[in-house]
Amino acid sequence: MTELKNRKAIITGGGRGLGKATAIAFAKEGIDVAITGRNEAVLKETVAELKEFGVNAIYAVFDVGVYAEVQKGIKSLIDTLGSIDILVNNAGIAAFGSLNDMEVHQWSQIIQTNVMGMYYVTKEVLPHLIAKNEGDIINVSSTAGLSGNATTSAYSASKFAVIGMSQSLMKEVRKNNIRVCTLTPSTIASDMSIDLGIANKDSEDSVLQPEDFAELIVSGLKLPRRAMMANASLWSTNP
Ligand SMILES: NC(=O)c1ccc[n+]([C@@H]2O[C@H](COP(=O)([O-])OP(=O)(O)OC[C@H]3O[C@@H](n4cnc5c(N)ncnc54)[C@H](OP(=O)(O)O)[C@@H]3O)[C@@H](O)[C@H]2O)c1
Repeated sequence: MTELKNRKAIITGGGRGLGKATAIAFAKEGIDVAITGRNEAVLKETVAELKEFGVNAIYAVFDVGVYAEVQKGIKSLIDTLGSIDILVNNAGIAAFGSLNDMEVHQWSQIIQTNVMGMYYVTKEVLPHLIAKNEGDIINVSSTAGLSGNATTSAYSASKFAVIGMSQSLMKEVRKNNIRVCTLTPSTIASDMSIDLGIANKDSEDSVLQPEDFAELIVSGLKLPRRAMMANASLWSTNP
């Protein structure tokens, strides 16, 4: 098994939802965690919770869709952590609507955040992992990235793109001892799924929870370094 204690991770969108659950699961393993997002108050609260596990926890405020902000934010996090081992590209947005009804700016914002944001953050972290000849990158797609549905054109386009980028990167950096994992979860209870009306807070027994997602990531990271969880789906047992 791979020992995770004292590793250093960056989780985009780590202040709430799936990212926060992953940050907590990492802290429980003794991983130092840097979380990012746009809402400083939320990030501060989550960092305080993470510190209770005795790890180093920090945050940076930036929009993943703005390259100059990403460059500055990632540099400051890695400078403070001292090094970086794990990147979880989790930040994302969703909106559903017919292709014609959705505003052009809303459609392109989904692409800018989910696709360009993941590319920008990865581009800033990757040289550090290559220099160490070791690392893990976890990219969060969705079942919406495996098949399109009516009203999901923007979100599905973004999550299909994530799979393409992630699989290409995986093949590019295997030689550098960097494991790249593409995740395609189904609906998980979070602000996103509740706001979209596809989950509610009172369905804990049937709907996937953020902790289930976090546990999957930790299990993948614990595999011996010779083994890589290249793709993983997560479905609820009884939809
Ligand atoms: N929940 C589901 O059913 C589900 C299923 C499959 C895949 N996913 C994927 O899982 C990931 C996490 O989703 P979630 O359910 O946890 O959603 P969520 O509760 O809405 O959280 C989204 C996170 O992303 C951050 N974020 C959004 N836009 C950002 C931007 N432009 N710059 C920086 N950070 C940004 C948010 O932070 P701030 O608000 O502070 O910016 C927040 O921390 C997303 O990629 C989503 O597509 C979710």
